[in-house]
Amino acid sequence: MRSIIKSVESAIKKITTNLDTKMVCSSLGPVKLEKNINMTNNLGREILIKREDSIDDFGCGNKLRKLHYILQDVKKKKSDTLISVGSLPSNQCKAVAKVACENGLNCHLIYGGDKQAKPKMAQGNYLLTTLYNPKISWFEHSSWIKLSENLSKIFDDEKNNGHSPYIIESGGSAGLGMLGSIELGFEIISQLQNNNSKKYDVVCAAGSGGTAVGIQMAAEFLDFDLEVHGICIGENADKLSCKATKLKDDTYKMLKLDSKLKKSINFYDCGLGIAYDTPSKEELETMQYAINKYGLIFDINYMVKTFIGMKYLIEKEKIRKNSTIILIHSGGQIGLFDNNDNMIEWYCKNNKDYVM
Ligand SMILES: Cc1ncc(COP(=O)(O)O)c(C=O)c1O
Repeated sequence: MRSIIKSVESAIKKITTNLDTKMVCSSLGPVKLEKNINMTNNLGREILIKREDSIDDFGCGNKLRKLHYILQDVKKKKSDTLISVGSLPSNQCKAVAKVACENGLNCHLIYGGDKQAKPKMAQGNYLLTTLYNPKISWFEHSSWIKLSENLSKIFDDEKNNGHSPYIIESGGSAGLGMLGSIELGFEIISQLQNNNSKKYDVVCAAGSGGTAVGIQMAAEFLDFDLEVHGICIGENADKLSCKATKLKDDTYKMLKLDSKLKKSINFYDCGLGIAYDTPSKEELETMQYAINKYGLIFDINYMVKTFIGMKYLIEKEKIRKNSTIILIHSGGQIGLFDNNDNMIEWYCKNNKDYVM
């Protein structure tokens, strides 16, 4: 136990020394890592849940870990306006609006996506986000590439208006944001000292892939037997693997460390379902089952897809035999209350006694 903690400390120290930035690790944690007995019994594997959903009451989850480090760079650069991008269910936009408000910074958010339109009424994540009164620019029915282009346009606009803007890319995994995900990996490993298992398999949602890469890097730093399985939420596995490889290389460069990440991370398409922000009947039933049997709120976008993906990997024996599985509940639970047509249709069909 002591030797693991020592290795963790020295790895963190190495990172922080190289970066020459004052950082506080584990300031958000430690977050509970707990066995879910019903899930363990149902799926026939020991399953621990990393309760990132309990980091705050707003379901910002893993985004806060990343923002904690990004904010230090914002302060260093004396920026006064955070700019970020997302779609209606975005936890990233919500988390950015929250930290901007708490730190006295301005916030300018870009909303859009292929099928995204400004809603008649704000609900769920979008409702919470707007209650922070950020400036919002909507780009309805626009591709993700277009949205990224608009990020730099908004950046220039803010600059021309006399502000000092700071772009936080979608996913929050670029640059210092990755330290939050590495920290998550360190925290998990330090919590496993009293567990009898010899090997671990982590399953997590993969949007930008940052969380998956960060946890895997922590395991590599500490030479700990842990494999990461990222369940793709939006992009397919091939595309995300390429992005994750670049993210890993960039992070090693940023840390001024030799690339040690020998294992490639496994990304899977098995949770993609119909599409992002379009929950299927199976996903909605799984969301209800998780509340009933596991005592967990899975949002209808990220966690429900991740859980279905994990079940598939277990069934198909893609996860190592006799390992302990760690499911990262990365937050986003407020997404259960998002304004979603599929959810409304499914709910009304199945719950006629409760509604008009
Ligand atoms: C709740 C939740 N989990 C996971 C992710 C994905 O994390 P990452 O971008 O690190 O892959 C996101 C954001 O995309 C999210 O909102």
